Amino acid sequence: MLNVGLIGCGNVVSYGHKPALTALDDVNLVAVADVTKERRLICKEWFTLPDEALYADYKDMLARDDIDAVCVAVPQGFRREIVLDAFAAGKHVLSEKPIATSPAVATEMIEAAHSAGLVFGMVHNYLFLPEFIAIKNLIQSGAIGQPRVATLHFLGVIDYPGAAEYKSGWRHGLEAGGGVLADMIHAVYLAEWLFDTPATQVMAFVDALEYADEHPVIEDLALVQIAFPNGYAAIHMGWGKGVGGVDISGSDGHLRMRYHQYQSSGFNRPEELYTVDANWERHDHPIESLPAHAANIALSFAKLWTDFADAIATERPTVAPAESGLRALELVLGAYTSAVTGRVITLPLGKNTPVFSEGVQGLLHINPWPQSRTVAAKLFGIDEVRAHEH
Ligand SMILES: NC(=O)c1ccc[n+]([C@@H]2O[C@H](COP(=O)([O-])OP(=O)(O)OC[C@H]3O[C@@H](n4cnc5c(N)ncnc54)[C@H](O)[C@@H]3O)[C@@H](O)[C@H]2O)c1
Repeated sequence: MLNVGLIGCGNVVSYGHKPALTALDDVNLVAVADVTKERRLICKEWFTLPDEALYADYKDMLARDDIDAVCVAVPQGFRREIVLDAFAAGKHVLSEKPIATSPAVATEMIEAAHSAGLVFGMVHNYLFLPEFIAIKNLIQSGAIGQPRVATLHFLGVIDYPGAAEYKSGWRHGLEAGGGVLADMIHAVYLAEWLFDTPATQVMAFVDALEYADEHPVIEDLALVQIAFPNGYAAIHMGWGKGVGGVDISGSDGHLRMRYHQYQSSGFNRPEELYTVDANWERHDHPIESLPAHAANIALSFAKLWTDFADAIATERPTVAPAESGLRALELVLGAYTSAVTGRVITLPLGKNTPVFSEGVQGLLHINPWPQSRTVAAKLFGIDEVRAHEH
């Protein structure tokens, strides 16, 4: 039995961690910490917790010796102190994505986990969605030969606000560490997982078309190209009403996956998966999808928690260790750097680059390309800094 505490009880708990934790027999939610009283009370009801199990200050919860692990589901800008305190208190950590807002903080937390000998896993739950399991199985079976070019279409991401009792608009501030690409970092770790190797280069256009009239400071559109040692991926990411699905071309065929109503991953159930073989013959493949989209999401969290509990019990890394969260974050920040400089960025990022130490704030310290669409869109506060300089 794994006894866990939850830090942050917002929307992701309602559709992800709550159904998982209430369904699993060998993971037991003991206590909850949240700075917002209304959210603590909502959690009390969801998990039928006693008043003593609710904490306004997570540090009081970490002092309990009946908790083995904590899930840190607060906005990413607040993770550092909480995660470091959790490791100091001897708790394993399951972190929501993105791991942090800067690679420097992510690295510091990873080093703390290693020194303490504790498990540090990411909520990279899309690895457990049925459509991606089916795609990965097809690739591994050789159905399309060696994968060469993958396009992940995420242009129909719905811009859900955060919990109303807290600060529903935090995702649109610079404190989120990026816009839709950082928020939907799922596509980034999925690309790496499909090619089974870390990315080496990234280039991108990053813009804000959807919210152009609302003085956005973060992007709502990111068109990203990624080089892997063995192939390429394109991620087309946007808050809006655009196309969703996956296309992968291989050395001996290609595959296509589409969602109900052609929506993007995470927002509807998968409906179509087929491969086309080397002779241009189409083969349809089943996806082990549940009828309701919400049930697929909930199951992905349950599988993720099961993996986390098993990793602790058997002293192995989780399916998505914190290092994969760091690599995904570096790729996102590399994409922003490319969009601002007009250059291809090599990965991993250098430890002395401004975005490594400061995240998006570091973009203010690099030389922008005059033609950059990201600068023209006045994203990340870059334009203001330049206006002051001239
Ligand atoms: N894996 C997924 O599919 C997925 C989906 C949504 C969100 N997320 C991630 O989960 C995190 C939370 O997102 P959300 O949509 O639930 O946000 P939310 O705004 O709905 O909830 C955030 C919660 O954290 C609490 N909180 C804020 N600061 C805190 C602190 N210092 N200590 C304790 N509690 C604090 C707030 O009171 C609120 O209840 C983010 O990092 C987000 O990227 C992951």
